[in-house]
Amino acid sequence: MIRLGVNIDHIATVREARKGEEPDPVQAAFLAELGGADGITVHLRSDRRHISERDVELLKKTIKVPLNVEMAATNEMKGIMLSILPYQITLVPERADEITTEGGLDLIINQSFLRDYIKELEVSNINISVFIDPDKEQIKAAHKIGVSRIEINTTKFSETENTEELKKELAHLKEIVRYAKRLGLTVFAGHGLNYRNILLFRELDDIEEVNIGHSIIARSLFTGIEEAVRQMKTLLNG
Ligand code: PXP
Repeated sequence: MIRLGVNIDHIATVREARKGEEPDPVQAAFLAELGGADGITVHLRSDRRHISERDVELLKKTIKVPLNVEMAATNEMKGIMLSILPYQITLVPERADEITTEGGLDLIINQSFLRDYIKELEVSNINISVFIDPDKEQIKAAHKIGVSRIEINTTKFSETENTEELKKELAHLKEIVRYAKRLGLTVFAGHGLNYRNILLFRELDDIEEVNIGHSIIARSLFTGIEEAVRQMKTLLNG
């Protein structure tokens, strides 16, 4: 069974459109849990364009499933997370003017910096995952740095429309996941997954968890969050 982590950033995106109090990500998380979410994910961005520090604190105190916080590897974020202590942090690259996360971290270039950064978080028993592209060299680097969890970037899979290309990408992902598992890594995946492509994706049953945000929140506008999560869970695990 592949677990479903639900990214609720865009509840806060709507709230921030008016800089008010609603809709509330904590309420969204509660409903997502009722719909069967196995985890809640938020991205605390340096520019605070959606999720705020207060949201992360409140979610940590209220949700029953694990809280995964995506963030850039900065000193500011490290300080905040060492006081909030979420269940898991996923390190992602961040660019101020990007619309969404654009790619995986380069663990090869940033190896020594990230090794030290991760150690400082791990002493507080926070689980650390790194968001990387489906590339064996990056997986090798993750293993070398000493992280035990990786999230594979599925953007290419999600954006491929041609059936033959899609089959190739799926085969590539299968090989990448197998490789990571052989190194003893726990493998997650996400970015761009939706109610259509998830049907193919579930062939990758060595993956422990997928993180899905945009498509679930988009559907929830019409169905409510609880139902949108329930539908994705059903598609994910048949
Ligand atoms: N995984 C990571 C690392 C992300 O940055 C995001 C987007 O915030 C997601 C998964 C979810 O992507 P989507 O919103 O396209 O489902």
